[in-house]
Amino acid sequence: MPDILIINEGPVRKIRINRPEKKNALTLAMYESMAAAIEDAGAEEAVRCLLIAGTPDIFCAGNDLNDFVAMARSGSLGEPIVRFLHALARCEKPVVAAVSGAAVGIGTTMLLHCDQVIASDTAILLTPFVSLGLLPEAGSSLIAPRLMGHARAFSLLVMGKSLSAEEAKTAGIVTAVVPASELDAQSLAAARDIAALPPEAVATARRLIRGSVEEIVARIDEEVDAFKTRLASPEAQKAFVAFLNRKR
Ligand code: COA
Repeated sequence: MPDILIINEGPVRKIRINRPEKKNALTLAMYESMAAAIEDAGAEEAVRCLLIAGTPDIFCAGNDLNDFVAMARSGSLGEPIVRFLHALARCEKPVVAAVSGAAVGIGTTMLLHCDQVIASDTAILLTPFVSLGLLPEAGSSLIAPRLMGHARAFSLLVMGKSLSAEEAKTAGIVTAVVPASELDAQSLAAARDIAALPPEAVATARRLIRGSVEEIVARIDEEVDAFKTRLASPEAQKAFVAFLNRKR
């Protein structure tokens, strides 16, 4: 089974992260698949809404840490990651996310680009960037403080404090918290509700609500530059090795 499943259900394009044996950690190939699915949706009139989901036990454990080690050695961030971040920021179709279990790192920051985030009561959002010697990415340094205020964004993105589903709802990231057994149905219903609205009006309203996409893309690029430096830092190297060797 592929690590990213792309299924069109009527007007809804479902992108399911499907690597549960590695807690849905994202490899470069997975970023490529997700970026292509998002980019293609822009050109496909029949697709009216995207729905990003994980597997029942986990949404996404963030970037694959083995890939981070390899990227630190090569000095690049990996073009597929940047392609995915740009695709998400520039996406003109509405995006719903269905979150069950942990959403770590980019698993959380990608949610800041979504129009509706439906979380199961098992969801937990966590961005341990700084304790890994890294930095907030995916435009989160711009979007999160706007959404939840500086201090709460600092707790999440710098101090690495986790948010339960209800706390994430209070912070404005999550739209609705539902029982785990209802997550699939309720997130699909939210995506279908959006898909049933007049698409041009949705697109224009969404563009106005989101503000300047170019500002978000510029911040993503600024974060990417700083992230590359952090990846190669002794602080980050030490943290990756500690995680990858923790069971030995
Ligand atoms: N990159 C690479 N592999 C990862 C991974 C990641 N981000 N997250 C989990 N995995 C792998 C583990 O190495 C393990 O592999 P193994 O079975 O070959 O040993 C497998 O997935 C299961 O993970 P495990 O840690 O045993 O599961 P858990 O239920 O105890 O914990 C998490 C789940 C998500 C809390 C934990 O895996 C974790 O903290 N992952 C790292 C998250 C992270 O720091 N991401 C980067 C953010 S910038």
